[in-house]
Order: sequence, then structure tokens, then C-alpha cells
Amino acid sequence: MEYVSDAIRNLPPYLFSEIQRKREKLEAEGTDVIDLGIGAPDLPTPDFIVDRLTKEAQLPENHRYPIYSGISEFKEAVAHFYKKHYDVELDPQTEVLALIGSKEGIAHLMQAVLNPNDTVLVPDPGYPVYSTGVHLAGGRPVPLPLDPTNGFVPMYDKLSASDKEKARLMLLNYPGNPTAATVTLDTFEEAIAFAKAHHILLAHDAAYDLITFSGYKAPSVMQVPGARDYAVELGSLSKSFSMTGWRIGYMVGNKATINALATLKSNLDSGQFIPIQKAGATALTSDLDSVKKYSHIYEQRMEALYNGLRSMGFGVEKPKGTIFVWVKVPDGYTSAAFASRLLEKAGVIVTPGNAFGSRGEGYFRIALSVSRERLEEALERLRNLSGEDGDG
Ligand SMILES: Cc1ncc(COP(=O)(O)O)c(C=O)c1O
Repeated sequence: MEYVSDAIRNLPPYLFSEIQRKREKLEAEGTDVIDLGIGAPDLPTPDFIVDRLTKEAQLPENHRYPIYSGISEFKEAVAHFYKKHYDVELDPQTEVLALIGSKEGIAHLMQAVLNPNDTVLVPDPGYPVYSTGVHLAGGRPVPLPLDPTNGFVPMYDKLSASDKEKARLMLLNYPGNPTAATVTLDTFEEAIAFAKAHHILLAHDAAYDLITFSGYKAPSVMQVPGARDYAVELGSLSKSFSMTGWRIGYMVGNKATINALATLKSNLDSGQFIPIQKAGATALTSDLDSVKKYSHIYEQRMEALYNGLRSMGFGVEKPKGTIFVWVKVPDGYTSAAFASRLLEKAGVIVTPGNAFGSRGEGYFRIALSVSRERLEEALERLRNLSGEDGDG
């Protein structure tokens, strides 16, 4: 018997499984594969966060079901972080919700706010969970083109009048995956004005908010006056504090949306383990020195990679944040063909840009999630490959 819902059956194919298959074959043949595909930090969770978890995990009172919307200490820590970092006041009880990672929040947000066939504007290129989340919720994702000639900001004028009118939800993500694009507050001011004019809820995914370089500070959409009437922002501890496996994040902003998602979640999950929420609170109320230290490591890797790629003639902009570098494929290749060639001939995994939407075609994404030595080794292999037939 094989019962699979149409929603699952009709999901777009997962491009990474094909790469995984090739990787296994190469490794079985003895190739030392360098994986620059996975966007997950390789650095450990800082000790002070692990210590709090260990301490709290000993206490029986922490072994029970948590309060659905998140324990007060965690929600207050999120509010504290917004006040200190962005000078934004949030009511921890009504404007903050704990998530089991922001991916969970994004996917469930769709189910909490969409009706069947509702239109959702999804950045193209963008994090694939946005469109799969819309599909699973029965909505209709419409690509919101990002401008490659202007820092990958949204091109609202490329949307049809009908899509603008029908849209119920719009997603944005800065610092961005996969483009590594960063913005100033005016991009969010424009987004809020657009959302207001067309009665759209804006969900900003701030998963890389604290991984920024050379003095750049990423703004929060909540800094736009009146933002909470039209917007929510999703945050994650995964990247900033190297806590991917812990599954902890949050959503802040519009009360009605927070309430809708909290209601859905109270029927689906029972919240994250209390010690993980407490450790998350410790992270968010810390002096953020650990984040600065880790960002500096990513920045050094980025510089090495950027300089190496430039010297080979690749089209690449220097990122001001994230753990990614977004690179143009050499002339004559599609994204998929170039990524396959890199894997087969050089044993280097990168993510083909088309995995992130049709406007990702012509690019590939490199994750800065390996040591500088491994990145240098990958560059060397790329150099040899470019020398082989003059591309690059
Ligand atoms: C843009 C973006 N948003 C959200 C997430 C999910 O993060 P989390 O671990 O909080 O679910 C990721 C993870 O790769 C991401 O790249």
C-alpha cells in the first residue's frame, strides 16, 4: 500500500539528491570530495550556550511540555535582543513567538495565513522552502524577481497588476540566501509601503541577520515605523550561534499573525525543549562577542574565496554578510552543467543557482562552511580545471 498525498507527490524534485548520488559514487572511487554545497555552519556552538543547556537539562521541572508560544525567558530574550540591537520595542507576550527553527516557522506560517490558491510573492532566486511551503499550504507561489544589476533588491514593477492585487503574503530575505545580498533600511521602507498599498502581509526572513562583515549592520524590517501592522520577521539562532541542530528560532511583529501561527502550532507541536529555549535566551542576551568572532572567521574565508575567484576571472560581488558567495558560471555553461563538471572533474560540490528559482540560472552558490585550507584547496582545483580548457 502506498498512500501519498497529492501535495507531497507534486513537490518539485529535490535537486540535492542527484548531487548526493554523484558524491557517493565519487567517494566510493576514492575521491576526496570538498562539499561547498551545504549552508550549515561548521563551527561549534559556543561553550556558554552548551553549558546552560547542560545545567538546565538536569532539572526535572524542565522536562515537561513547555508553554506553546515559548517560555517567557526566551520571548523576553528576543525582545531584549530587538531593543538592544535594533532599538525596537516588542511585547514579549503578544509580539514574539518561539519556533522550532525558522524553517518550521516559515512552512507553518503559510498554513496559518493562506487559503487555497492564495498568491504568495516569493523572491527569485530564493530559499527553496518558501515555494515548497506555499505548495504544501495549497497556495500559489509567484516569483518576485530580484534585480541582479542592483544588489538583488525586489523588482515590484516586474509583477503583473493582477499578481500584485491578488497577493496575500510576500517573503523577503536579507542578508540573503543564496545571493548574499544585503540592504539598507530603505529597501524595507519600500517593501512596507508596497505591502501597505496592496494589503499584503510581509514576512522577512532574517536567518543571517548577525553574520555580517566589515562594519555592515543588517537592518530589521521592524525598524520601519508602523512595520508591525504589515509585517513579521523570522529569526534563527542556527547560523549566528552555530545552533543548526538545536532547532530554535522565533517570529516577531504583527500580533494577529503571531496569534494565527501560535494557534496552528498549538495543534501541531508542543514547542521546543525548555533547556534549549533557556540556552537560546542565554545566547540572545549575551554580548554577541561569539557572533563577532565567528563572523570574522567567515569574513576571512569569504575574502580568500572572493580574491581567488576574481583572479580566475569569475563574476562575483564581495558579500557584506551570510555564509555564501554567489558566483556567475563561466560562459557556455548552464548552472547544472557547471556544477556537475566541478563535482566530476574537481571533486568540489557547489549548488547550481537554478536550485533557487529560474533567476538563479547562470549562477552557482558556494557555502563558506569549510575551513580556509579546504577553501584554498577547492580554489586550487578550480584553477587547474580552468587551466585545462581555458574557462573560468
Ligand atoms: C534563508 C534561510 N532561512 C531559514 C533557514 C532555516 O534555518 P533554521 O535552522 O532556523 O530552520 C535557512 C537555512 O539554511 C536559510 O538559509
